[in-house]
Parts: sequence; C-alpha cells; structure tokens
Amino acid sequence: MIFDELYADRARCMKTSEIREFFKLTEDPSVMSFAGGFPSAEFFPMEKVCEVVNGLIDEEGKYALQYGPTEGNFELRKYLAEKMTREGIPSTVDNILITNGSQQGMDLLSKVFLNPGDPVIVEEPGYVGGLGAIYNYEGDRISIPLDKDGIQVDLLAVKLRKLKMEGRSPKFAYLVPNFQNPTGISMSLERRQQMLQLAKEYNFIILEDNPYGEIRFEGEPVQSIKSMDTEGRVVYLGSFSKTFIPGIRVGWTVADESLIQKLACAKQATDLCSNSLGQRMAYRFASSGYIDTHVSSLIARYKEKRDLMLSCMDQHFPEGVTWTRPQGGFFIWVTLPEGMNARSLLYKAIERKVAFVDGAGFFVNGNGKNTARFAFSEACPDKILRGIAILGKVMHEELAAFKKAKTA
Ligand SMILES: Cc1ncc(COP(=O)(O)O)c(C=O)c1O
Repeated sequence: MIFDELYADRARCMKTSEIREFFKLTEDPSVMSFAGGFPSAEFFPMEKVCEVVNGLIDEEGKYALQYGPTEGNFELRKYLAEKMTREGIPSTVDNILITNGSQQGMDLLSKVFLNPGDPVIVEEPGYVGGLGAIYNYEGDRISIPLDKDGIQVDLLAVKLRKLKMEGRSPKFAYLVPNFQNPTGISMSLERRQQMLQLAKEYNFIILEDNPYGEIRFEGEPVQSIKSMDTEGRVVYLGSFSKTFIPGIRVGWTVADESLIQKLACAKQATDLCSNSLGQRMAYRFASSGYIDTHVSSLIARYKEKRDLMLSCMDQHFPEGVTWTRPQGGFFIWVTLPEGMNARSLLYKAIERKVAFVDGAGFFVNGNGKNTARFAFSEACPDKILRGIAILGKVMHEELAAFKKAKTA
C-alpha cells in the first residue's frame, strides 16, 4: 500500500526529529553517551513505587484502572491548583488540565490555535518537542536567538514590527525560561517582564514550559512569567517527569478556565483521558510530601553530575571551545569555533565510543552547525570522567585539523 497520495497535507510535512533518529546510533551500550536528556533511572524510587502501586490497586483499583475525566483526576488537579497558587500563580481546579506529559500540552495548544502558516515565536536554539508540535500543525516557526539571559527581546521587537507590516502576528511564543533544553540558559526577570509586555502589545499568548525549574542547584528562583500575568495571556506547563518519573506520563497545563475547556475538547478526541493509574500515583507521591523530599535529593545528585562534567570540560576541552554553566536542569551547551562542524566531531567521537548531540537539530533555520548539547543527567560519574577526557582529545585533534585547513 502506498500511502503518500492519501496523506492529508498536514501529515505530509510530519517527520521524526533528526535528533531522536540519531539517538539510535548512540544506543550501543558500549558508547558513553551524553546524548539523551533522560532523567537518571538510578534515581527512580523503585521500591516506594511498588509499595504505592500495590496500595493503590488494593484500595482504589476499580478507579485507578478505569477511564477517568478528560480534565484529569479531581484530587490531583486540586493539589496542583494549590501548588501553583503557592508558587505565585493563583489557580483553582478549573484552571488545571492534566495531560499525558507536558508534551501533550504543546500539542493541544498548537491544535487549538494554529492555522497553516500562523507565525509562532520560538527560541533559537529550542526544545525539539515544542518545535515539532508547532511544525506538525503547520505553524511558521520564527526563531529568535538566545543570549545568556534568554530570548533576545530587542531582536524579537524588531521581528514583531516587521511581521506587523506584513499584516501578520504570532499566535503564541513558546519559551522554556528555566534551564532551557538544549542550552541550560535561564531567562532573567527583566527579559520575562519585557516578553510579557511585548505579548500584550502584539496580542499573542506565551506558552511557558517549565519542566526543569525545580531542579535548581544554586541561585534564587526567578518569578515565572505566568505569575506576572493578569490577563490569562500566559499558559503554563508543568510536569512530574523530571521531579518524579516520566513513565507515568503526567503533566499539567495551567490556563484560563475557558481555554482549559477548549483544550479538554481537543484532548478528548486525542486520548479521552490521561493515565488513571499514573495520576493517582502522582497524587499519592505529591500530596504525601514525598516528591518534595525526593526533589531535594535529586538536586544534590544532579548537581554532582553537573559539577563533574563542568570540571572535566574545564580540564580537557581546548581553548576556543566555550560552554554554558547552567544553574540547574540537565544540559550544557557547547559552542565550537565558528566554521567547525559539530556533526563531523560527533562521528569521530562515536568511533571512540563517546556520543553527544550536535546542535543543528535544535535550530529551525539551518544555523548552529558548530554547537552541541551535552546531557549530564543520565551518565554515571565514571562515564563522565572517561568520556569527556576522550572527547577532549578528539576535539584537540579536530581543532588542529580545522586550523590547518583554514590556513592552507
Ligand atoms: C523543555 C521540555 N519540555 C517538555 C518536555 C516533555 O516532558 P514530559 O515528559 O512532561 O512530556 C521535555 C522533555 O525532555 C523538555 O525538555
């Protein structure tokens, strides 16, 4: 059967992320990989999960294994509304939609807001899952470069004026303000305020995705954009994937009640409801205070990995290569000298059994060929020590060859 001529126009453009395809190359267990940005499975509270799941099945199995409301389990929504309120985002149950991971929030928002060709502001580089959701609904991704304080709002202001002159305006801006994937960069308070101001001026929504915000190693938390929003213009995405476990696929969307209802309509046709067992697990773990204690221990353990990776990079990476020093999250962003190709470096590294992801896939405009993302979240200390040392050697060799070719 040839499906090509039957596909909807919308589906014709869909493709899997190049980055995810590339992970397959790095799945060889003998490869020391800093490619995948998964949480560390060693940190999953396996025994406690067994105990809680057994209790759940015994005590409320007939609900935990049943379909549930599209909007999500009431108790969990109530817990999350209170949590959001404590975090400066006044919410009630009606402001909360439980989703299959925060990824589904991006999909639903794109589904309800995007017509083909609608402009959407994205970060450059940006999170591939968000970029993919927008792409699948045929949004026109307009990328604005980041600097050390996040998205460059002055460049965005210029772009918005230009779009206006063309009679166009973005539907929303997709941002990851804390410890962004892929760069580890956080947006300053001033930028967050300026971003909200621009959103008001040009009447677009901000989609604030915050899966890493609680994994902060140092520095003071910065106010969320949603907490400064007085009009319901900001939609906030939260997730249990990094603070607890991703396999339950439980995330949440916080928005105005009317928008939650629209998103719930869109969700109903997608999956009827989120994972009932997963939601009840999340509720038990969260409401007992277990997740808060767990997050404190995660912070200490991920910080050790970040510190180790940074000190190995300091020791082994050659002059001319630069990298971010994230205050939280899972990722370090590496920039090679202009003109060097991170993909070629990656192929050389894989021959020596070390992997990372080259950065071009996080850009929507073909830029970023000299960049790379390193995840410190999953690798064990021994692999970080050995892998970064090997990579340092490969970088020295590649850099020498690059300089030679340049002067030849
Ligand atoms: C920035 C960002 N947003 C969302 C997600 C998806 O998270 P979830 O498991 O909640 O769907 C990820 C996962 O890596 C991410 O990095």
